[in-house]
Amino acid sequence: MLDQILNKIESDYQLSADELKLLLTLKEADEIKLLLEAAYKIKSNIIGKKVFYRGLIEISNICIKDCFYCGIRKSNSSVDRYLMKEDEILKSAEFAYKNNYGSIVLQSGERNDKQFVDFIERIIYKIKELSNEKLGITLSFGEQEEAVYKKWFEAGAHRYLLRIETSNENLYKKLHPLDHNYSKRKNCLKILKQAGYQVGTGIMIKLPFQTYDDLVNDILFFKEMDIDMIGMGPYIVSSNTPLAEENNYLIDEDVYTLSLKMIALVRIYLKDVNIASTTALQTLKTFGREMGLKAGANIIMPNVSETLYRSSYQLYDGKPCTDENAEDCVNCLESRILNIDEEIGYGEWGDSAHFKNKTRS
Ligand code: 5AD
Ligand code: FES
Repeated sequence: MLDQILNKIESDYQLSADELKLLLTLKEADEIKLLLEAAYKIKSNIIGKKVFYRGLIEISNICIKDCFYCGIRKSNSSVDRYLMKEDEILKSAEFAYKNNYGSIVLQSGERNDKQFVDFIERIIYKIKELSNEKLGITLSFGEQEEAVYKKWFEAGAHRYLLRIETSNENLYKKLHPLDHNYSKRKNCLKILKQAGYQVGTGIMIKLPFQTYDDLVNDILFFKEMDIDMIGMGPYIVSSNTPLAEENNYLIDEDVYTLSLKMIALVRIYLKDVNIASTTALQTLKTFGREMGLKAGANIIMPNVSETLYRSSYQLYDGKPCTDENAEDCVNCLESRILNIDEEIGYGEWGDSAHFKNKTRS
């Protein structure tokens, strides 16, 4: 059965939801290995062996939202809140530029006030200026008005990450307070696309109440929404959050292996999208991110924020690299990637091939 499906993958056949589920629920180590290898082969054939960096700048942990799983939710009074100063953000961006990272991601908790919106706009212009227009800019600032997305696009940002977290609306409701709205979030993904951004979304894996069918539907959702970039990672309990109290897990499987299988299936099903090997994977296993690359991912997001602030950006427990500085990470990362026989796309934007293929046709 597995052989047959793997042959279909090779011959460019679009898998059915049942076939995706069968692959996602594989249990035998040798079968899982075949699945991950098939995904890696597709990645190498379609988009090559280059891994692209996105220098991640976590500019603030101030958040107006209250997601039940997130360590920086507004009700978590044990967090020291910070907002990086303009010159600190520019310094981090310059570090990424000087080290040939090609692109950066600016991320923070959600804020919609004018002061914040204008601050981000100014930062985008300044980063474009300091890098002679060369540094690619991805934003991850949650749900915003269409006019704000447009303003930031005009300032020079060209990619936006907004995870749907789960494509199951009922599960979404269980993870968020009543003032969060699934349809609004989904609509933001559409508005972002219309505004011209390459759009990234993603989900958390092995959430309480989540089923294998939910995960299969997440993959179908990415396809249906014509998403360019995917960032998925294991759900990791964050103490001091309401979801930490919830023990109703419907999937009984090691979340690390499940996450690798999800990366592989997204690569197999969507083929030419960018897929991030996330920090949350590295939290579970020292070489988790490398394994993500071997399962079909092609993007790494090294943290380039000031070390000073990193310990306060704890979305979940045990987040790694919070006390190393960015310089340490450059060297350790390069050798880790070369060691698994991948290359690094230094100085390139590394746009999603899916987005490029779309705009060409
Ligand atoms: N475990 C894993 N990922 C988390 N995120 C937030 N909290 C957690 C957690 N406890 C992820 C969400 C969010 C992204 C910025 O971080 O998916 O979109
Ligand atoms: Fe900040 Fe979810 S808690 S966006």
